[in-house]
Amino acid sequence: MEIEQGLLILRVPSCPLWFHPAVLRELRASVVKRCRRLDYLVMPTATRLDPLYYLTDQLSQLKEKGTHFKLRVLEDEQEPVCTFDGKKVINLASNNYLGLTTHPKLREAALAATKKYGVGSGAVRTIAGTMRIHMELEEKIARFKNVEACVVFQSGFAANAGTVSAILGKEDFIISDELNHASIIDGARLSRARILVFRHKDIAHAEEQLASVKDQPGNKLLITDGVFSMDGDIGPLPGLCDVAEKYGAIMMVDDAHASGVLGRNGRGTIDHFKVDGRVDVQVGTLSKAIGALGGYVCGTRDLIDFLYHRARPFLFSTSHPPSVAATCIAAFDVLEEEPQLMEKLWENTRYFKKELGNLGFNIGGKNTPASETPITLIIVGEEKLAMQFSRELFNEGVMATGIAFPTVAEGKARIRTIMTAKHTSAQLDQALETLKKVGKRLAII
Ligand SMILES: Cc1ncc(COP(=O)(O)O)c(C=O)c1O
Repeated sequence: MEIEQGLLILRVPSCPLWFHPAVLRELRASVVKRCRRLDYLVMPTATRLDPLYYLTDQLSQLKEKGTHFKLRVLEDEQEPVCTFDGKKVINLASNNYLGLTTHPKLREAALAATKKYGVGSGAVRTIAGTMRIHMELEEKIARFKNVEACVVFQSGFAANAGTVSAILGKEDFIISDELNHASIIDGARLSRARILVFRHKDIAHAEEQLASVKDQPGNKLLITDGVFSMDGDIGPLPGLCDVAEKYGAIMMVDDAHASGVLGRNGRGTIDHFKVDGRVDVQVGTLSKAIGALGGYVCGTRDLIDFLYHRARPFLFSTSHPPSVAATCIAAFDVLEEEPQLMEKLWENTRYFKKELGNLGFNIGGKNTPASETPITLIIVGEEKLAMQFSRELFNEGVMATGIAFPTVAEGKARIRTIMTAKHTSAQLDQALETLKKVGKRLAII
């Protein structure tokens, strides 16, 4: 047995003994670590090594650490009470802040668009995949955000990564909060710009980083999440805008978790802080509070026109089906027409945070940032314990996601919950009761 160019070569004589089970067992034992295609061993020919064997090793390590997970499968609609893996649970895990995933007006809009326009756009936007309804959605968002123009991407991830990598090049600089979303980091890496990280929400440190490159010729982009997805705190926009203006930097905000949640009718952190006109690139998502799928960038007409020409996800990936665009148009109408949804979201959020704190859980603000939004954390610390907490909550009827490294820093594992406008008081009380019971059992409180 030898290895040649990644192939495990078994040189076997054409002798029936080779097919004897005892011989095969021994052969299996000697290659089992490196080869998954054991069936091939019965053939007296070359057997290929699995070149991905190292992934299996890494998965085994996750299993040993207790952070390997199995995808939970939703069997009905994304609602406050729904069925995952055959079990009915109170759902505290979705980003469906306003409950729009099942809103009748959105559902109707999706069905009507499918009937009228079919199920797909058939091409990328720049070839033949720009439908009238895509343009209507972009115009609608631009009006809602009070900006010149908007471009819609296939996801919030694509909007961030596609924009940062398009507007910066290798001679430029990106000054980025250490807890910014992965899509910003990936965009920065793709751009090949130099990345300067500033401590979380530390305006003085952001300024220090900008000052350190002020005499360099490249463009500078100062970027922050509007709401940080794993801690629920809000980016310090006014201070960052001051610094960006002082150093002539481009100011960019990722409002994925602020869209539909903060500001008038959910206009986001720019509206919340009244920094209109001071943020050059505003990103939002259509996948969370808006209830469907997609991301968007708002800014000047020239910024959007440039992204039409240079943003790679826009140029090289098919546009949304018309039903998604129609759904999102209807969602922006709902944001204007049903402000009570946002009020209920915040009422539920305040109640749930207060009661969790009263139970003695660490809900942030000690060794992690304090949440200021419906993203509500229970900081556990140890990864294995956080995952066990999540599993036991599920067994007791509450779906609350365990989050561990690398999504958050090591030693800061947590349970992440998100309120929605549709949770009833009875559901929240029942969830709190279960959190208390399991939290005590695991000595978390
Ligand atoms: C802060 C932030 N930005 C961007 C995204 C990406 O949005 P989408 O889910 O629409 O791709 C997310 C989603 O997790 C996020 O939390």
